[in-house]
Amino acid sequence: MKDLTAVKNYDYSGEKVFEKAQDFLPINGTDFVELYVGNAKQAAHYYKTAFGFKSLAYCGLETGDKEKTSYVLQQGKIRLVLTTPFDPDSEISHHIRIHGDGVKYIALWVDDARKAFEETVSRGAVPFLEPIVLKDKEGEIVKSGIHTYGDTIHLFIERKNYKGAFMPGYVKWESEYNPDTCGLKYIDHMVGNVELGDMNKVAKFYEDVMGFANLITFDDKDISTQFTALMSKVMTNGNGRIKFPINEPAHGLKKSQIEEYIDFYKGAGCQHIAVATDDIVFTISEMRKRGVEFLHVPGTYYDTVSDRVGIIEEDMNTLKGLGIMVDRDEEGYLLQIFTKPVEDRPTLFFEIIQRKGAKSFGKGNFKALFESIEAEQERRGTL
Ligand code: FE2
Repeated sequence: MKDLTAVKNYDYSGEKVFEKAQDFLPINGTDFVELYVGNAKQAAHYYKTAFGFKSLAYCGLETGDKEKTSYVLQQGKIRLVLTTPFDPDSEISHHIRIHGDGVKYIALWVDDARKAFEETVSRGAVPFLEPIVLKDKEGEIVKSGIHTYGDTIHLFIERKNYKGAFMPGYVKWESEYNPDTCGLKYIDHMVGNVELGDMNKVAKFYEDVMGFANLITFDDKDISTQFTALMSKVMTNGNGRIKFPINEPAHGLKKSQIEEYIDFYKGAGCQHIAVATDDIVFTISEMRKRGVEFLHVPGTYYDTVSDRVGIIEEDMNTLKGLGIMVDRDEEGYLLQIFTKPVEDRPTLFFEIIQRKGAKSFGKGNFKALFESIEAEQERRGTL
């Protein structure tokens, strides 16, 4: 594996890294993220009400699907698919029984789904779905897929010949209930948690099979508190639109948050989905009003944050009131906040991020953040 991080850990040298990423798999962006959930109808209501998503498409018994129902939601460029099976013996039911609610598909928008499949499989990807063509009166979609960490799948979606709401098999979902947007725009990055010793293997998969490059590496000296630690490698595609940090637990005095995730998810899986906004104060004010729970940032965090990040446009008291954290790198600063897990198991959560030049991931906030997560773990008895 070419060691792009040999440059120096943390040196964000974007251009160089992106040059090294290979372009045999051009990806236009994230097409959708599909979660397998215990009750898609209620989950859809939660994401509409609390996160400000809009109804987009639907499939289920009424559309002739006898096996499952899916609700498709959209906000900005983010499409979220929530799927629940009918048959207790189906693969989807098995997935939910093992993992609880969680991300099954990270679908990538490509110009050529056949080529994406061939290129990745010829480089060692484990096939999940041979290219298939789905058609309806709105046109056609080509879809293929490969395995990534755990039971998670990357789908390749080619939609240049399709003008329908989502894809064949779905109907447009017209709903009378349409809560206002929370200003979420696009997926900034999606993080995978993998088991101890697997981070390099998965990073190598993204490099060799997907042509990604290693943007930054964090080790346990960077990401640790008194008790817990983790290591992370951020993988990116050539145009930087897709970023997948891969975490693995590192040894600490107590159980790391990554281990806790793996214990409850029963294996590797998607830990968080980071969504971008261009007005985080508005977004978080709305989401808090609508009942989304965020990790608590200790008030003392704000005593020193200005020394660290310097002058920013936002009012620090407003950020403190909302629990929004700030970090700065060579190129600018970023504002971020993390939800508590959004299901019953302490697994998947969301990050809301606003970038003001910064292209990094909030390293300066890791310590405060982890102490907050540990306080939650303590309450759950899993620390
Ligand atoms: Fe993140």
